[in-house]
Amino acid sequence: AAADKGGWPSFMAKEVSEEPEAVAKTVLGRVKDGGIVIPELDGLDELFQGIDRVIVLACGTAYYAGLVGKYAIEQWARIPVDVELAHEFRYRDPIVGSTTLVVSISQSGETMDTLMAVKEAARLGAKTLSICNTQGATIPRESDAIVYTHAGPEVAVASTKAFVAQITALYLLALHVGRVRGALAPSVAEESIDELEALPAKIQWVLDNEQERIEQLSHWMGDTRSVLFLGRHVGYPIALEGALKLKELSYIHAEGFAAGELKHGPIALIEPGQPVFVMVPSPRGSATLHAKVVSNIEEIRARGARVIAVAEEGDAAVLPFADEVLRVPLASPLFEPLIAVVPLHIFAMGLATAKGLDVDQPRNLAKSVTVE
Ligand code: G6P
Repeated sequence: AAADKGGWPSFMAKEVSEEPEAVAKTVLGRVKDGGIVIPELDGLDELFQGIDRVIVLACGTAYYAGLVGKYAIEQWARIPVDVELAHEFRYRDPIVGSTTLVVSISQSGETMDTLMAVKEAARLGAKTLSICNTQGATIPRESDAIVYTHAGPEVAVASTKAFVAQITALYLLALHVGRVRGALAPSVAEESIDELEALPAKIQWVLDNEQERIEQLSHWMGDTRSVLFLGRHVGYPIALEGALKLKELSYIHAEGFAAGELKHGPIALIEPGQPVFVMVPSPRGSATLHAKVVSNIEEIRARGARVIAVAEEGDAAVLPFADEVLRVPLASPLFEPLIAVVPLHIFAMGLATAKGLDVDQPRNLAKSVTVE
């Protein structure tokens, strides 16, 4: 049967509303007796014990999911991770061997750039694992192992619910590999599983409590010509994703930066009225990161930036410096991106809608790019 919008104005509106479910279904059946169980990875313990390096390969939004995943794999499994755009990896004579695990991420499983990179990695002797949202697609078929995301079919060209499902799958993988390698403390595993299971309700909270206000904000900003996004740690890839989504949907110039890089260049762009989204880490998760981001906010505010802070509910430190605060529920640092990205998806969709654009079919883009 043809996919159906189910009463939503666009597939994207429907798919953003399904972000809680995309996470929940990806976790479903993979937590048993307080531990992660991924039946697809049965028999691969030796493989995971024998690797000394992970390379994540993907394109577009999936690449940003990979950048988030790096923090979790390194923290929980203590394996060094490189994240690379598949087309850059493929054509630079990469150094890869039998102790390298290549993790590809692709919603469609058909992206030619990613497929060619996976084949090249396999040819060079790497083990390959595919994170994919489409049963039986080409990339998972070409891989040694598969962890499916269960976001359901994604129709809108720009990816939303698949993104949160991809991060979820990477976290499940990181927790699994961390346990198999003896790198993960049981207490950390337990807390992380609790956080994973709490995510859908927290994402739903954003949709229920902030969606209308974010849409209003995006409508006020309908004639904005450029938007910047700043983030630090796991907030950095989320800033990149927020900028990509805004470019794709609204054709506005948008750029994401690492907040710490501000003084090394991007601060030159700040002039009065420049809108800047800032991903603010929870003060309870990391006081240091929080303080550093708040000081970045002060710096850009002093130069006239219009600051839109995405911050934890109750974070009073940002209030004096932010023009707008989009609230998100508390989560421990690694889990913040799965929640904080939702306001950015809503904003990009809202601004494109305000401009009268087709959010499902942006110009010049294809859902699945099957040419190199
Ligand atoms: C296209 C889509 C993007 C997507 C990228 C990777 O460029 O427009 O939304 O992120 O491909 O797609 P994949 O199916 O490999 O995740």
